[in-house]
Formats: sequence, C-alpha cells, structure tokens
Amino acid sequence: MDLALLETPVPVVELDIVERNLRRMQDYCDRAGIALRPHIKTHKIPSLAHRQIELGARGITCQKLGEAEVMADAGIDDILISYPIVGQGKALRLAALARRATMRVSLDNPVALATVSEAGRIGGEIGVLVEFDSGNGRTGVTSVEEVLTLARAARDTDGVRFDGLMNYPVNARTGEILRELLPRLEAEGLKPAIISGGGTPQAFRTHEMAPVTELRVGTYIYNDRMTVAAGHASWEDCAYTVHVTVISRPRPELAIVDAGSKVFSSDPMPAGTGEGHGYFPAYPQAKLAKMSEEHGMVDLSACGERPQIGERLRVIPNHVCPVSNLHDRLAFTKGGVFQGFGAIAARGRSQ
Ligand SMILES: Cc1ncc(COP(=O)(O)O)c(C=O)c1O
Repeated sequence: MDLALLETPVPVVELDIVERNLRRMQDYCDRAGIALRPHIKTHKIPSLAHRQIELGARGITCQKLGEAEVMADAGIDDILISYPIVGQGKALRLAALARRATMRVSLDNPVALATVSEAGRIGGEIGVLVEFDSGNGRTGVTSVEEVLTLARAARDTDGVRFDGLMNYPVNARTGEILRELLPRLEAEGLKPAIISGGGTPQAFRTHEMAPVTELRVGTYIYNDRMTVAAGHASWEDCAYTVHVTVISRPRPELAIVDAGSKVFSSDPMPAGTGEGHGYFPAYPQAKLAKMSEEHGMVDLSACGERPQIGERLRVIPNHVCPVSNLHDRLAFTKGGVFQGFGAIAARGRSQ
C-alpha cells in the first residue's frame, strides 16, 4: 500500500532507522564492556524486543508487570522490572512470571521487598536490585546506609537474592555515590553482581560517569525531539513520526491538524530546549502550539512556506514513549515503503 493512502493520524516507524539505532547502542555497550538490557516501555512490541536480543541484548527491562506478561507470552525469558512491585495481587502475578522467566525487580523499601519475597517463595527465586536516587527525586533510597540496610535485608529474606543496584538516570552523582557505596557493600560480602543504570540522553557517556554493568535504555530505539535536543541523536535518527493531515486553516497563520493530546500526549520539552508539542521536518518553523483532545493548533506565523488543507505532515513527538502507549498499532516502513502494520501489544498495560 502507498503510505500516502494510510488514514491519519497514524504513527509510522521506519525500520531502517530502528536497525541503525539498535546497532549503534549495542556497539557502544560492546565497546564499553556494559551489558545492554533495553527498556521496552518505549516500543511495547515483542518483535522489536526480539530484535534487540538477537543483536546482543542480555534481556529486557519493563516498567510494569503487564508489560512483562506480554513479553513473557512472546517467549522472552530474562526480564528486569525497574519499578517497585507492591501488593498481594501483584505478588501472585510476579510469582507466575517467575515460573517461566528469570525475573529481577528493583525496589527501595521493605514493603516492596516483602511483595517480591512472597512472589519468589511461590514462583521461584527473584533477583533484587536496590534502587538509589542520584538526584531525580523519584523512587530510590537517598543514603548509603539505606542501601546497605536493604541489601542486607534482601540477602536475609527467603525467595529473593540480592543481585545488585539500580539507578536512573545515570549522572555524575551516580559515580560519586558508587565510589562511597561499593567498598562498604564489598566489606560485608555484598558485592553487587549487577549495577544497572539507564537513560538515553547521556547513554554514550555512561562509562565515563559510573561503573555501570548493565544499561537500561528505551528511547534510543526511536529517538524523539528530546533526545535530539539532548545531543544524543539527530533528526535523521528519529524512526517514529506521526503522520497527520491539515484539516482546517481558519487564519493565515494557523493550521489545524487532525491530532491532539490523544495522539501526542502532552509532555512539554524541558525548559529552554524548545516550545510546542512536536517538530515538523518539512516546516521547521511551524509550532504545535496548543492541543485539545483531537485538534492540534499549529502556529505558522514564523513559516515562509505554509501547508494547505489536505496536506499530510510528519511530526516528531517531544517524547515518544507516551505516544506509543496511546496507539493500538503503527505502520512499519523500510526505506520509506510501507511494510505492514504492527500491534503495540503492551500498550496500556499500566498495572
Ligand atoms: C527506571 C527507568 N529506567 C530506564 C529508563 C529508560 O530511559 P530512556 O527512555 O531515556 O532510555 C527509564 C525511562 O523513563 C526509567 O524510568
């Protein structure tokens, strides 16, 4: 089918760029002596996870049990969930996963440890990575003493095994913390088998920042406006674009496209890195300034050339991961030629 005949809005993924992005990251990891464990929250598609493993990835990372279930159903048998799992229902689901895959979970508190212990006692031993915070202000313990306490607890708890440490995103502070922490752990016989770090924007500097042994990166498979702004990638490395149509031109400086926040999500760019909700390669000065659910308001005031009603536009989203999560399927292309649709099998699996 001619790509121009696909109804819009439609996400389109160029597989030649995906392949290049995957190989580039795998090559980096191989050269740096770091194991690659891609985060599938970006694509949520089992065939792409399998390709990552074929190219050398050690296993995958998921954020939620629901994503891990989809990937295990597709035959992937080595999974890290980089998110604390809390509650009895979740313990039973984690136990079921542990029966059919090597499972690891990161956590930062004793309640999550108790959940993983329950799962491990039912389904088979589960590896624990203790998460520490290096300034993100999200999950992760905030002192070396707390890491030690949780590591000891993991060592002494049934159903789990202390496997190491987890941090996101890796930065200079990660290195400082590890320099203090590692001798303390080793002194107690708790040398981490795995130090798992993550984040695409600084991925190629990981080896300079901290002695990470495994890298969890997600966005690198597609790239987006944020990874371009961070200097990780160029526009030519962006594999995922949303094709939209101009449906109205109410004023000379305004175009309305057939996609709003239900297509693009609403993630803004980090302060100082760009305005609006996406980048139009054919109209670099156009700004997706406002969105309602199904309307995108494109400010054309800075554009010389302006798109007409009926014209199709390609948009590179600010942050591609939540955009993936909003669609049931996407179109794959190779060299710009339509190859078929792919189901985004793990989309919406937020539990
Ligand atoms: C815990 C964790 N690890 C890894 C990643 C991967 O980050 P990126 O998509 O920048 O590669 C994320 C992203 O949100 C994350 O939350």
